[in-house]
This record gives sequence, C-alpha cells and structure tokens, in this order.
Amino acid sequence: MQEIKFYKGENIPLELHKVRVVQKLHLVPIERRLEALQEGGYNTFRLNTNDVFLDMLTDSGTNAMSDNQVAAMMQADDAYAGSQSFYRLLKAVQDVLGKQYYLPVHQGRAAENIISNAYVKNGSIIPMNYHFTTAMAHITQYGGKIAELLYDEAYIVDSSHPFKGNMNLEKLEEIIQIHGAKNIPFIRMEASTNLIGGQPFSVQNLRDVRAIADKYKIRLVLDASLIGENAYLVKQREEEFKDSSLGEIMKTMTGLADLVYFSARKLSSSRGGGICTDSDEIYHELEALVPLFEGFLTYGGMSVREMEAMAIGLYETLDETIICQSPNYIKYLVNALDSKGIPVIKPAGVLGVHLDAMQICAHIPQRQYPAGSLAAALFLISGIRGMERGSISNQRDEYGNETYADMELLRLAIPRRVFTLSQIKYVEDRVNWLYDNRELIGGLRFVYEPPVLRFFMGGLEPVSDWPQRLMTKFKEDFGESL
Ligand code: F0G
Repeated sequence: MQEIKFYKGENIPLELHKVRVVQKLHLVPIERRLEALQEGGYNTFRLNTNDVFLDMLTDSGTNAMSDNQVAAMMQADDAYAGSQSFYRLLKAVQDVLGKQYYLPVHQGRAAENIISNAYVKNGSIIPMNYHFTTAMAHITQYGGKIAELLYDEAYIVDSSHPFKGNMNLEKLEEIIQIHGAKNIPFIRMEASTNLIGGQPFSVQNLRDVRAIADKYKIRLVLDASLIGENAYLVKQREEEFKDSSLGEIMKTMTGLADLVYFSARKLSSSRGGGICTDSDEIYHELEALVPLFEGFLTYGGMSVREMEAMAIGLYETLDETIICQSPNYIKYLVNALDSKGIPVIKPAGVLGVHLDAMQICAHIPQRQYPAGSLAAALFLISGIRGMERGSISNQRDEYGNETYADMELLRLAIPRRVFTLSQIKYVEDRVNWLYDNRELIGGLRFVYEPPVLRFFMGGLEPVSDWPQRLMTKFKEDFGESL
C-alpha cells in the first residue's frame, strides 16, 4: 500500500474512510460508572452499553460495516433452502479463501462445536499454537485435551519478535511421539493468537507445520477468524511476501490447511461463520452436523441479510486500506503507551492493545485477578470497556482447581474503522493516569462462578474499598470532568 507521509515526519495513522452513519455515545459520571460496576459484578461483559463510553470489549460483531455491505443486505433472498444469498456467499468464500466447499454456521464457536463433535473423543490431544476460550471449551466438552506449543518468546511482553504466534515445531514432533498420531485428530493453528496479544504466525511456520502434519497424516485445521490482519503483518514482516497482495497471502495460508473455519463476526465485519475445505471426506464427515446444530445447509443459523453482508465483507478483506486500519491504530497506541513506560504487549499485533496487568498490578496476586481488576479500574476512571484476558478467562482443570493464565492481559480491542484518533488519544490519557495511580487498584474475588466459560457471566466483588478510593483520587485530579 502506498505510504502517506506527513510534512514534519509525524507518524499518524490516517483514516482512508469517512464516517457517514454515527451513533451517539454516553460518557456518564464516575459515580454512575461505579454503580454500573457494582450492578455488573465487576465484570465488563455484564455492563450495559448505556454506561459505556468507548466499547473496546471486542472486535467481534463490532467492526464498522461498509456502505456496500449495508446496501447488499437490502437485496437478500429469503428462502429456507437454496437462497441466492447463500450462493453469492459460497462464491465469495471460494474466491477469497480458495476452498471449494463451505458449511455455514451462525458464528465461530458453532464451527468449533461441529469440528469437535466430529473429531474429538475421550483421550484426544489437540496440539495448537495457543488456545482460544471457546475452542478449548468445545474440545474439553467432548473429552479432549489441548497442548499449547508456542516458543518461549511468545510469553515475553517486551519483545521485537515478528511472529510470536509461531508453533514450536520441536514440541509438535515431541507431542506426536508421546501421544501417537492416532490420538491426534487434528492440529489447530490460530491466525493471530488472540489470547497472547493478537500475535501473528509466519507463512513459513505454517508450511513447516503442514510438513509435520503430512509426515504423520494428521489433519491441519486453521482458525482464520483474524486471517486478514495476520496476512497484513506477514506482508510487512516476512520478506518473501512483501510484494504479495493480501489475497495471495491469505490463499497461501488457507491452501496449507485441510479445514479452515472462522468467525465472520471478525473476519468479514459481519455476523456468522463457516467451515470450508477442499476435501470430499471432511465435507461429508461434517455436513450432517450443520442441520442438526445450526440450520439448513444454505443458511446455517444465519439470516440472509447477514450472509449478504458477509459475502461483501469477505471481498473487502482483500483491501489493504480496510485491513490496515485496526493494526495501524494499534501500533499508534502501543507506541504512545510504550514511550511512557507503560507495559504493553510488543510488538503491536492485531485486534487490540494488550496491557500487561502482571506488571501494572504487580501488587495484586494472581488469585485476585490482576487483569480483571485492571479492567474494572479502567472502566471506572474512563468509561472505557476492555476485556480481561487472564486467569478469569481461564477454565478450572478437570479436578476443579483454579489454573492461572500464562499472561494477565487487559485487552483494549480496536475494531475496524470504529474509533477516531482523538478517542484513541483519550484512551492513552486515561491509561496513563491509571498507570500513575496503579497502587490504588486492588484485587477481586468471585461471588458467582458459572461452571463453563465463567468469564462471560461471572460475578465478582472488590477485596477492599479500593474502587471508592480510586474514585476519590480521580475527582481530586480531574475535578468535575467526566
Ligand atoms: N476463534 C478466535 C480466534 C476468536 O477470536 C473467536 C472469538 C472465536 C474463534 C469464536 O468466534 O465469537 O464468532 O463464536 N473471539 C471473540 C473475541 C469473542 O472477543 O476475541 P465467535
């Protein structure tokens, strides 16, 4: 993509879109934000967006849609079976992801359910670069276990390694030797490992994984939910692909996998999801599960409008001016925070900026959830809603013991083309203030802990009156400012 330089050399991520439909936001007073936290069990998932100023919970289903996506939704074809909307979507999947067969599902985790139902049984081991919460929950639900095989570099916060999402090839061979290929129904690669800070893998690493999968005749599954942004970072960071288009890189990646699945809520700035493959065998193994769990094979639980938006969104994933926006904003904010000494995951990845709560809240023990505490504190002092990606997001082990996360992160998602640069500067300002007052943040404990995916609806409470003290300090420094 053509670089746009500024006269004085400033590094500013210039927006290559204009805003034509807007939504009013609410920045409510800090007293109301404290009440909202109390009502929502100090869990940012449980906040009402009436109380949220900048919603940085996720990019899932919150990327801005384009005019062409919205227009396409108006010409959707309602039909239980054989909808023209489905055939337009099928063509988009074939064109963009390069796979012949496509099974529609209502969102990414539905694909994980179907794949796990078909392939995972008691005693199965699924090697992966890193888990995603819903992928792991489905695998364990069907009796399987996961093996996370990153290189040590992946866990280093302050790093310049371009591909922290790479799978550790030596460990992969070792796991296969230990458990035997027959117990490994598939290897899972996640394009841009979400939970360690949205870090990409290289195409070369995927090729190496493919070679090992071939050697042992194990299926290779690619979670392509964030493949567009992973491809963008490949273009920037992997010499071989510096002159390739995003489409070429994406197809090179999908071409290496036997089965590709994705959350369209992320990939195509729409809703929905899918599984695609070139293999007759895989298609037939999974086909019957779609009507069972999702809906008929030409809608898979999606509305026809969503399918139209998804088809256009998939083609737009090929456009670098669209895909670069989120990673470039992330880079801008990571650089700004890093220059102030605030610990963030580096290098800047995709999806969002990830604050390192292990360092920022070093005084909070892991059993009191530093990342969850930081998420609550940031919301309190700013109305910015992030997502805890640490031990609260972890599931208990098979014996019911708490398992502590490798990293305690507060993720501030930057969905595509949603925020303005002054809003990003507000985030920088409030994170900076909170960092300077970090000693005032205290821990949390569960008062309601659901048995599955506890982070979604779990309820917590502060271990002391730290939220009140943080609020007092905020009012001292900011006076009547919101
Ligand atoms: N795979 C990855 C890598 C994801 O990030 C997600 C969702 C899924 C699968 C599941 O897809 O939500 O459509 O069912 N990630 C969202 C997030 C929820 O906030 O990171 P889904």
